[in-house]
Amino acid sequence: MTKAQSDALANHWNRFEIPLEGTMDPHSLFYAIKPKEVIFEIGSGMGEATAQIAAANPENGYVAVEVHKPGIGALIIRAESLGLRNLKIINEDIWDVLNEYIADHTIDKFHIFFPDPWPKRSQSKRRLLQPPFISLLAKKIKIGGEVCIATDWLPYAKDIEKSFAQVLEFKGGVVPRPDWRPITKFEEKGISKEHVVTDFCYRRV
Ligand SMILES: C[S@@+](CC[C@H](N)C(=O)[O-])C[C@H]1O[C@@H](n2cnc3c(N)ncnc32)[C@H](O)[C@@H]1O
Repeated sequence: MTKAQSDALANHWNRFEIPLEGTMDPHSLFYAIKPKEVIFEIGSGMGEATAQIAAANPENGYVAVEVHKPGIGALIIRAESLGLRNLKIINEDIWDVLNEYIADHTIDKFHIFFPDPWPKRSQSKRRLLQPPFISLLAKKIKIGGEVCIATDWLPYAKDIEKSFAQVLEFKGGVVPRPDWRPITKFEEKGISKEHVVTDFCYRRV
């Protein structure tokens, strides 16, 4: 963690932190802005896309869920410099967050950009986007809500399609790259290695 990241956490974490207790409707976290939609970003990394999307859509509330503390420090630095008031952050594993603290059918959208690809065949069981996790998303998202995904790892992209096909509560598939999704350093690295980026959108039916 850089000094700037640890200073950002020490000085501003309380402005962004969501205290995890009981079961919540995430809309209640943004009572000051009464958000049109509440969007959870799973694995916000260094927060590049998170901060830009939140800044471009002040009418929505954004919740970044990330286990990696330096990334949270980096996101707080970006959020402070942009003066964001529509962003909250949770420093926990997404499985625990959704299972323990979020009321069913309360989230409008999920953003999952470049989830860890676990490229070795022996590691593929660790991938997040498999049927049990997708079923959990189906339980927490509103009917009509959307899950937007991007990956630069083609074997994972193929698995994502197969896994969503097994969860009948979602309909959708591959979409053109959305123009609102900013490019992150992670994506740039993939593109420099000639990886093909696939975007998906699934709607809860
Ligand atoms: C490959 S990075 C992509 C980061 C960012 N979305 C981007 O596009 O640059 C995946 C991120 O997901 C986070 N992550 C992985 N599993 C997670 C989990 N179970 N709960 C929350 N975050 C997770 C990792 O810490 C990492 O920062």
